[in-house]
Order: sequence, then structure tokens, then C-alpha cells
Amino acid sequence: MTLSEYLKARRRQYGLTQAELASRSGVGLRFVRDAEQGKKTLRMDKVNQVLALFGDELGPAAVGLGDLNNQIKYMADNYLENRYEEVFGRTGGKTAAKRAVGVETLMKRNRSYREYDTSYVVKRAQLEAMVRVNRYLASGRNAQSLRFRLLTKEDGSDKLQGLYHLGRALPELHLPRKGAEPEAFIVICSTVPSWKNLYIDLGISCQGMLMKATEMGLQGVIICNFKPEEVKAALDLPYEPVCIVAVGKGLEKIQITEISASEDYNYYRKDGIHYVPKIRLDDLII
Ligand SMILES: Cc1cc2nc3c(=O)[nH]c(=O)nc-3n(C[C@H](O)[C@H](O)[C@H](O)COP(=O)(O)O)c2cc1C
Repeated sequence: MTLSEYLKARRRQYGLTQAELASRSGVGLRFVRDAEQGKKTLRMDKVNQVLALFGDELGPAAVGLGDLNNQIKYMADNYLENRYEEVFGRTGGKTAAKRAVGVETLMKRNRSYREYDTSYVVKRAQLEAMVRVNRYLASGRNAQSLRFRLLTKEDGSDKLQGLYHLGRALPELHLPRKGAEPEAFIVICSTVPSWKNLYIDLGISCQGMLMKATEMGLQGVIICNFKPEEVKAALDLPYEPVCIVAVGKGLEKIQITEISASEDYNYYRKDGIHYVPKIRLDDLII
């Protein structure tokens, strides 16, 4: 898999034209065309700018200048081959069923993270990619009453710090930990007063967007522990905020454990691992 093949496949997967990919990632249309046509000399920072849209990145190559482009291409081919297999579950054009990332695998990976690597900066385009899934989700009476405010670090996400709380079941940790706060958020607002269908729509939306984040190699958490009036005022929102989804590169090691329906369902931490008890299938079915 070459960089050009990978970019084309990803762009089509996201339903973007070359012009849309260029404008969303902040590079020129010419660059996208060159990259997709397999131009040999591409600027790595720009390649990374485009890859960031899909949550991907190439590392720096420690080689002489003359080799740089070949090295980048080599790295791109290997890295992208792996990413492609991870995302699409194929290798060399053949389906590798056992390596495919199916919906259930994404769901297992999609855990709630409450500590983040702040050296990784989430881009607005990544949040947009998450919000885009709402266009394909179920909605009661198809009313689509939710609206989304995107907040990256560049957009002033610090306005939200201190207004939400994480890890109610782990009060001794005082999460979010200073220096490990999430710095990108999607604040979900409702254009209508609360009612049953709104909250069902909200759950579908949160899960859909977090699945997209997981697919892009990001992690997140749903946050309802905040005062709507405070968040509305801080962000000057035109609608009532009903939920916040935080996004970033999660730091915790998280494991699911199996419990019966009568056991303690609270999440806990032990020896540096965050455990999430989930009720076993036999007890879920009644
Ligand atoms: C409706 C809803 C509200 C939530 N609100 C918060 C919150 O305010 N703070 C927080 O740390 N986690 C919050 N969570 C995350 C849950 O605590 C988390 O989903 C649960 O512990 C199970 O972990 P898992 O998502 O990894 O399966 C919320 C989740 C949902 C679905």
C-alpha cells in the first residue's frame, strides 16, 4: 500500500472530494492531487497535516537529506500498510478475516478515558469527522434536534476546564488530573426541551461519535457531570448543553472484567489498571 493508495481509500471512506480534503486539512488542492498521483517528493509536515484528519501521523526520519523522501515513502508504505490493515482488515488485496477491525472490536476498544496525553493536539477536522457520523444515525421521528459545538485547544477549550467532573466513582483521584486533562471537546446541545426521544438520540450520537474517534485512533469519554447553565454561559451557546464528549489520546490502561448482575458494577483502579466491570451475557438476557 502506497501513500497515494492510502489517501485515496481514506478520502473515499470519508466521502470527501479532493478539494474538501484539501480545505479541511489546510493544504492546497495541488498538494492533495500530487500526493494521490504518487509524487515522489512531498513535504512531510504537509503529509502529516492531511493524515491528522484521519488521526494518523508519520514519525520523523533520522536520515540524510538525500534519502529523506525515499525514507518517508518507505515509512509511509510500512506504516500505512499496517494502518490500512488495522482499519480495513485487508493485506495485499486479500481479506484477512482474523485481522479485520469489526464493530465489536471497535466497541471493546471504545472505553471511557479520563486522563490524556496533552502533547497530542486534536485537530478541528478530527472533531468534524466525529460529528459527521450524526448524518447517518437514527433519530426519533428523524427530528435531529442535537447541535454540536467543537472545541479544540486552538478554539479555547480551556474555557471548559473546571466546569466538568470526571470519575465520580474514584473521588480520591480528583479527576481530571492536572496536566492530563482532555483538551478537545464536542459539546452537544439540544434545540428542543428534554424528552425521552432526545435522550435516546443523545446516546446514539455519543456512541456513534466515540466509535468514530476509536476508528481514528483517538479515545474519549461522555460527560454529563456539569452544570448546563455554567457551560452555556462560558461558551456563549445558543442552546442548552446536554452532554459533553471529551476527545484525545487516552493514557490509561483499561480492562473489561466480567461480573454477574448482582455484583458491584463500579469501575476501579488497581496496580495501574482501570477495570470496568460488565455484566455477563447470560445475566443480560432475561
Ligand atoms: C450518560 C453517561 C454519562 C456519563 N457521564 C460521565 C461523567 O460525567 N464523568 C465521567 O467521568 N464519566 C462519565 N461517563 C462514563 C461512564 O462512567 C462510563 O461509560 C462507565 O464507567 C463505563 O466505562 P466504559 O465507558 O469504559 O465502558 C458517562 C457515561 C454515560 C453513558
